[in-house]
Amino acid sequence: MTGYSHRDQVTLLAPAKINLYLEIKANRADGYHELVMVLQSINLSDRLEIHRWGVDAIKVHCNHPQVPCDQTNLAYRAAALLQERYPDHGGVEIRIEKNIPVGAGLAGGSADGAAVLVGLNHLWQLGLTLTELQEIAAELGSDLPFCLGGGTALAVGRGEVLSSLPGLENLALVIAKPKDLAISTGWVYQTFRQRNLLVNAPQVQLSSQMIAAIASPELDLTRIGRHLYNDLERVVLPEYAMVRALKAALQAEETYGVLMSGSGSTVFAIARDLGQAQQIAADLPQSLNFPVDAWAVTTCSHGIQMAQ
Ligand code: C5P
Repeated sequence: MTGYSHRDQVTLLAPAKINLYLEIKANRADGYHELVMVLQSINLSDRLEIHRWGVDAIKVHCNHPQVPCDQTNLAYRAAALLQERYPDHGGVEIRIEKNIPVGAGLAGGSADGAAVLVGLNHLWQLGLTLTELQEIAAELGSDLPFCLGGGTALAVGRGEVLSSLPGLENLALVIAKPKDLAISTGWVYQTFRQRNLLVNAPQVQLSSQMIAAIASPELDLTRIGRHLYNDLERVVLPEYAMVRALKAALQAEETYGVLMSGSGSTVFAIARDLGQAQQIAADLPQSLNFPVDAWAVTTCSHGIQMAQ
C-alpha cells in the first residue's frame, strides 16, 4: 500500500461479469428483488485513470458516446460518496476507457464505480478494507460489491451479500450482443414483477446444483452447462427477437451451454477452448441478419486491479 502513497494518479482495470445463474426468489418491499446468483468475472475490462484535481470537484470523461459523464455515472457517484464521507482530499478527474459494452448485463457501470472506490482508497490513503469498501459499494448499486473482488461468487439478497466459490479460471467463452441494443435493467425487473412471473415459475430451479457443479473437484463443464439458468430470460427473450435469435445461433454451436447474462442483451456460450470461442465470435456476425458484437474471452479470478 505504501507504494501508492505519493501518487497523484492511479490506473485501474475493471473486469466485466457474467451471471452463470440468476434466480428471483421474492419481491421486496423496497422495489428490489431477493436473488440467488452465481457471478463470474471475465477478462473484458474497462480502464480507468484517476487523477487528483486541484479544484474541489469531480470530472468524468469517457470515450464512449452513450456513457453519461454526469451524476448518473456510477464512477461519478462513487467519487461523490467517498468525497462526502472523507472530505479535504480535493477533487478528482476520472478518465474511463470503455471496453465493456453498455446496457449489456455485464455490470460495466458497476465495475467503473468499484474501480473508483479502489482507486480513491489508494490515492487518498483511506486504508479501507475490502469489507468496508463492499459496504460503501452496496449503497451505490447491487453489483458493485462483487465487482470489487470479482472471481467466482454466490450472491444473495439484492446481490450484495457475497460468498466466494471455488474459482473457475481460464474457461473460454464467447460473449455476444446485438450491436445497438441496450436493455434497461430496471425495466426487466419491473416487468418480471408486473407479469407475476414469480408465482408462475415454470419449475423449481436449484442453485445448489450449480454450486455443487462448480465445487466439484473434477471440472465438469457439461454439468456446469446443464445448470446455467437466468430467470430474466423469461422477460427479455419474448420481448427482444434479436436476443432470441442470438441465443438460438449460439445454441446451434457445439458448446457446453448458452445463457443470457444479467438483464441482457449479452448472451454467452461456454466454449470447448479459446480457439473454438474465437471461431464462433468471428463467424457469428455472418449468421445473423442484424449487427452483432462478439468477443472470445476467458473467465478470471479477480476484480479491480491496479494497472502498471
Ligand atoms: O442496484 P442497481 O441500481 O444496480 O439496480 C438497477 C435496477 O435493477 C434497480 O433499479 C431495480 O429495478 C433492479 N434490481 C432489482 N433487484 C435487485 C437488483 C436490481 O429489482 N436485486
